[in-house]
Amino acid sequence: MKTVEIKLGVRTYPIYIGISLTHVGDYIKDKNITGKVLVITNTTVNKLYGDMVVDSITRSGFDVSITKIPDGEEYKTLDTVNGLYQVCMDNHLDRNSLIVALGGGVVGDIAGFVAATFMRGVPFMQVPTTLLSQVDSSIGGKVGVNHPESKNMIGAFYQPIMVFIDISTLKTLPEREFNSGLAEAIKYGIIRDKKYFTVLERDMTKIKALNIERVEYTVWRSCQIKKWVVELDEQETKGLRAILNYGHTIGHAIEAATNYKTYLHGEAVSIGMVCIAKIAKELKLLNSMWTHRIERILTRAELPITHKVSTNKIIEKLIFDKKVLNGKVRFVLTDGRPGRTVIKDDVPEALIRKVLEEQKV
Ligand SMILES: NC(=O)c1ccc[n+]([C@@H]2O[C@H](COP(=O)([O-])OP(=O)(O)OC[C@H]3O[C@@H](n4cnc5c(N)ncnc54)[C@H](O)[C@@H]3O)[C@@H](O)[C@H]2O)c1
Repeated sequence: MKTVEIKLGVRTYPIYIGISLTHVGDYIKDKNITGKVLVITNTTVNKLYGDMVVDSITRSGFDVSITKIPDGEEYKTLDTVNGLYQVCMDNHLDRNSLIVALGGGVVGDIAGFVAATFMRGVPFMQVPTTLLSQVDSSIGGKVGVNHPESKNMIGAFYQPIMVFIDISTLKTLPEREFNSGLAEAIKYGIIRDKKYFTVLERDMTKIKALNIERVEYTVWRSCQIKKWVVELDEQETKGLRAILNYGHTIGHAIEAATNYKTYLHGEAVSIGMVCIAKIAKELKLLNSMWTHRIERILTRAELPITHKVSTNKIIEKLIFDKKVLNGKVRFVLTDGRPGRTVIKDDVPEALIRKVLEEQKV
């Protein structure tokens, strides 16, 4: 088992990595929870892990209930949140209670938002079960839901009291979802740690084969890098947290241009990372050896590096991207090599078009 601590003063919390879901209850016992425990999950994850988690929490002496939301990003809405507020009321939750988010990023974002807002804040715990949520969304306190016109538009910064990661849950995760999470792990190597990038290159076959030790290392190192960013810029006010958007500006535009139906998030980010590496190459910020290595590692992770989307549509979405500042789109670029970044808001549209066209098949 590995631990990473997110140090945020009174909001400091541990991430436990490589521990069985059967121990969730033991870890809750160590926290000052005296009220009810409500597990929020979805229908898919409930079938796989619902009983295991509820049994564990019951064994530790808590009064626990579980509620399921339907599976899917389309349910990440205020309507779902409203339904969950009713469940909180029916279960008489109070500020001594605990909300446990059991599932991927969708469940984590929704349950976290309910916890942040019900009675102005109830303690909550993340139990992420997808690779993406284990390396990214369960850490850092961004919680929220989608607005019909824009993703993640409604939300808050609300830190969990702990993150509990059971790597073995990844065994049941569909491979495409696993690969999507790998895109975020690779991103950390590119934005912060050249050595980690090299380790991922070396270990890719083992990681893909779910070698527990290598997957645990990958989750741990990814969490460490996210920790570094979150501790320095918890609420994205200092500009640093924006580096986590590497590949995401174009990735989000690709997702939006395809109505979120064609690509999983990590897949769109993968295409975005290749595009941004090529833009960096054109701007003489990255040499072709590195762009080639970035393409290669993503291909080995079985992630897409090309797309079939209209360039005009992607550009249109880029312009509406929420990160547009004074009419300018901000891009996170590598500066010289993986591990160093620079943010630019003056990338010529013609260059973005050229690279998007080159990646189109
Ligand atoms: N809060 C943040 O900082 C942050 C960061 C990145 C992404 N996100 C959000 O995360 C969401 C995407 O998260 P995701 O990729 O985890 O998707 P997801 O939550 O939709 O999970 C993907 C699929 O895997 C299923 N699943 C989950 N765990 C499983 C398991 N162990 N075995 C089998 N199936 C399992 C889910 O039911 C779902 O069908 C998006 O809504 C995105 O906006 C949030």
